[in-house]
Amino acid sequence: MISRINNLEDYAVAYRRSVSEPERFWSEVAEQFVWRKKWDKTVEYDFDDYNVQWYLNGKLNITENCLDRHLLSRGDKTAIHWVANDPHEKDRIFTYKELHEQVCLFANVLKRNGVQKGDRVCLYMPMVPELAIAVLACARIGAIHSVIFGGFSAQALADRINDAGAKILITADQGPRGNKVVELKQIADEALFQCEGVERVIVYQRTGVEVKMDDERDVYWHDEIQSVPNTCDPEVMDSEDPLFILYTSGSTGKPKGVVHSTGGYMVYTWYTFRNVFQYQENDIYWCTADIGWITGHSYIVYGPLLEGATSVMFEGIPTFPDAGRFWRIVDRLKVNIFYTAPTAIRALMAQGLEYVELYKLDSLKVLGTVGEPINREAWEWYHQHIGKRQCPIVDTWWQTETGGIMISPIAGVIPTKPTYATLPLPGIQPILVDADGNEIEGKGVKGNLCVKYPWPSMLRTTWGDHQRCKDTYFSTFKGLYFTGDGCRRDEDGYYRIMGRVDDVMNISGHRIGTAEVENAINMHKAVVESAVVGYPHEIKGQGIYAYVVCDSEQLEFSTITELKDEILNVVIEKIGKIAKPEKVQIVRGLPKTRSGKIMRRILRKIAEGQTDNFGDTSTLLDPSIVEAIKEGVVKDD
Ligand code: PRX
Repeated sequence: MISRINNLEDYAVAYRRSVSEPERFWSEVAEQFVWRKKWDKTVEYDFDDYNVQWYLNGKLNITENCLDRHLLSRGDKTAIHWVANDPHEKDRIFTYKELHEQVCLFANVLKRNGVQKGDRVCLYMPMVPELAIAVLACARIGAIHSVIFGGFSAQALADRINDAGAKILITADQGPRGNKVVELKQIADEALFQCEGVERVIVYQRTGVEVKMDDERDVYWHDEIQSVPNTCDPEVMDSEDPLFILYTSGSTGKPKGVVHSTGGYMVYTWYTFRNVFQYQENDIYWCTADIGWITGHSYIVYGPLLEGATSVMFEGIPTFPDAGRFWRIVDRLKVNIFYTAPTAIRALMAQGLEYVELYKLDSLKVLGTVGEPINREAWEWYHQHIGKRQCPIVDTWWQTETGGIMISPIAGVIPTKPTYATLPLPGIQPILVDADGNEIEGKGVKGNLCVKYPWPSMLRTTWGDHQRCKDTYFSTFKGLYFTGDGCRRDEDGYYRIMGRVDDVMNISGHRIGTAEVENAINMHKAVVESAVVGYPHEIKGQGIYAYVVCDSEQLEFSTITELKDEILNVVIEKIGKIAKPEKVQIVRGLPKTRSGKIMRRILRKIAEGQTDNFGDTSTLLDPSIVEAIKEGVVKDD
């Protein structure tokens, strides 16, 4: 069957066909879904004046394909198996039938609260089944969901709600994480002071703690769900109707709302899920991501449910109550496919093997990683100690914008090589280009990673600003989608992602723009200007290093340590803990060119601990600044 790749030959055939006859290829893959009306044309696109459409004039509802389609054959199969943060709390299990019912109930709650097709619904929730239910309920009625990661601050939440123009927010009283709780409702209340458009807040009681409720605005999930019918016809959507917005950081300005549409996203997330992980009917699949990120959207919710899989959802963190938590869950649930981030692997590796050796891990068949480059040591550790050298590792390269996995081994089919994402999946046509956009052909080469042909789940636009989408992804190299990543193609034609070539950092697999952190730092009253760079960090992959220029008068009022703490707090307040710099250095000035551009290359090198070999510094306005930074202008630590 075209949709299942079983061996290398299948891959070669599928790949060739996907390039020579892409329309036919993607048309055949899409056939097996429920469409209310079949599409007229498979794809239409223009990469110069960006516009892309897949499955034109097709009509469908993605939840009909995630849920209703499975009711007869898999109604009693577990769809979501939820494991709580607290190891003593009971799991919650939802069969396809139960999930379908819950989604219908909440879809009716949304309708009753005035949500209509095309409206934006923001979600600021812990990792509870109700988050998946709310996401699907939005899709059921054609509302556009925008999930905001529970670790973001009130300000970051407000910015995203306002940009999306949402009139409803779904949140929870609290979100337990490790031995802490996130005060979600309280943070949401603070954010909503700035969000006039939000008329309704639906609060899910996760811990049951008393929270402040606004009589006119706030209602409880459990109250609302009491009096609505448990069936809800799926809204018939166009293939190109937006399914969701997900905010992500870029190299400049505010985070942008990446928009994904319905038909193409459905086809591609399903196709990649079943092939990359080689999911078999009774497998237990666990992706440890948070639904606040794209990985959770595509590979906890949509991909697995479209396949009719059993998807594990975990509320906690890898190191609570101890570093054996993941492995205990793997053994207890007999997890077959396990998908996590390199940063988690490195963190657990650092805790020692005693946390691994207590567990059998013999149910595992396939291991996956995502979100950042995996170093060889972590790859080997994962392979040897978790996979017992029996499980292929799929190092999956993709992005929020790509919607689904782009370059990755297909488990057991494509031979793996440590640190390599290996080969493009069928339908994906990567190309490496030099700084001028010329193709770098052949093997054993490096370049900027672009894609030259559309794939079904690529972003359609950035919310409210199509020009920004064009500028960011389609203007650097003419006629190509630019990923922002540097990449090497080796002698075997295998791809290895080298990391970002723009001003985007990757901290523990979280994407953070340097400009975003700088903007936050600059809001401190003593700060004149700042420059932020990423530097190699053993566990997080990258850490944030901030160089900050302060007003000398302000400096006299506080100690350097106090000032640094205050600066860190501003970042936490404006963005969230995930963007907190590891190091702050107060400097006299920043190394700038005569035209005023900050030479980040130099700052990156200093952050890495290098003190010479700065390359060409002849355009520096004041070379003594570099010397001063190296020595530490203000000797403090
Ligand atoms: O630099 C690449 C890195 O993460 C970026 C995308 O981040 P985000 O949109 O948050 O999505 C993460 C989850 C899909 C990419 O531009 N990245 C992602 N996966 C890998 C990776 N770098 C190396 N290897 C990977 N497997």
